[in-house]
Amino acid sequence: MNASEIIKLKQTGIQAIAAAGGEQELEAVRVAYLGRKGHLPSIMKGLKDEDPAERGEIGREANAFKNDLMNAINARRTELESGGTEADALDHSLPGQWHSCGTLHPVNLMIEEITQIFRRLGFTVADGPDIETEYHNFDALNTPSDHPSRDIQDTFWLDSGALLRTQTSPVQIRVMESQPPPVRIIAPGRCYRRDTTDATHSANFHQVEGLYVDQGVSLADLKGDLTYLAHELMGPDVRLRFRPHFFPFTEPSVEYDFSCHMCGGDGCRTCKNSGWIEISGAGMVDPRVFEKVGYDPDVVTGYAFGMGVERMAMIKYGVQDIRHLYENDVRFLQQFK
Ligand code: PHE
Repeated sequence: MNASEIIKLKQTGIQAIAAAGGEQELEAVRVAYLGRKGHLPSIMKGLKDEDPAERGEIGREANAFKNDLMNAINARRTELESGGTEADALDHSLPGQWHSCGTLHPVNLMIEEITQIFRRLGFTVADGPDIETEYHNFDALNTPSDHPSRDIQDTFWLDSGALLRTQTSPVQIRVMESQPPPVRIIAPGRCYRRDTTDATHSANFHQVEGLYVDQGVSLADLKGDLTYLAHELMGPDVRLRFRPHFFPFTEPSVEYDFSCHMCGGDGCRTCKNSGWIEISGAGMVDPRVFEKVGYDPDVVTGYAFGMGVERMAMIKYGVQDIRHLYENDVRFLQQFK
């Protein structure tokens, strides 16, 4: 038998193996091909009569004949034992393996959302250090050491005279020191104050600072942009209101409130019946601040605002206690996707 005849016979054998419907049939095929009186011994026996030049190749094909058929028989036997083909043995309706997937922390989610909204108004994100100099955190913000408004922020001082920043406002100074106007930045980050922890206070919290400086920036721009924020964040019916206030580094200064998104301003538990929810402080950049960073207050004006991220998250997501945000209870955290 020459090499191509052996290959043909092998293929016939493989088909017979695949068609074998049971163990007995399979055994019959095995005997017919590989058994003592089967095809393989007769191929081997005939080998010595073949042309010596072709014997090598025929020998190789005879080996392949044996190995391939044996493998096919073993595979078919496994299939028959497991009651079907290998693919049939897989139950596709079984649940897969799930990897648990993390979620964004509500504080990060809030920062992300506020950042995206201001990006659409052309703001870029700026950053500053958590460990600040007294100059950037206070003096440059028109808050000298004898200023009474330092008291509530008298805070975590380091031996070097540096401190953990009490607000994100020093980023205003750092940005203006590093570039000429115009400036349009927001600066999210961590802040630290010597506060006793309760349902609404934490010694470690987050703010987002905003600063817009150019020629002709006015309080109307501030009101317009914060109104846009209110609409994007809380819904199109939410209104904004300014109340007079004082900050050393803005003049005039305001506190701003959103109308209550729960009751629409009629008064409810969320807004303590006032119809308004206090958000944070803002105002027009004080000319003295511009002088500190070398901007000419006769040429440029600007607005600045701050907002507490935890506070915004608690308002938006209806979180009753700020401590939920820091306890790392997965049952709480995994609700935010
Ligand atoms: N930094 C102020 C605070 O922490 C908020 C603020 C920011 C006020 C910018 C005015 C302008 O209370």
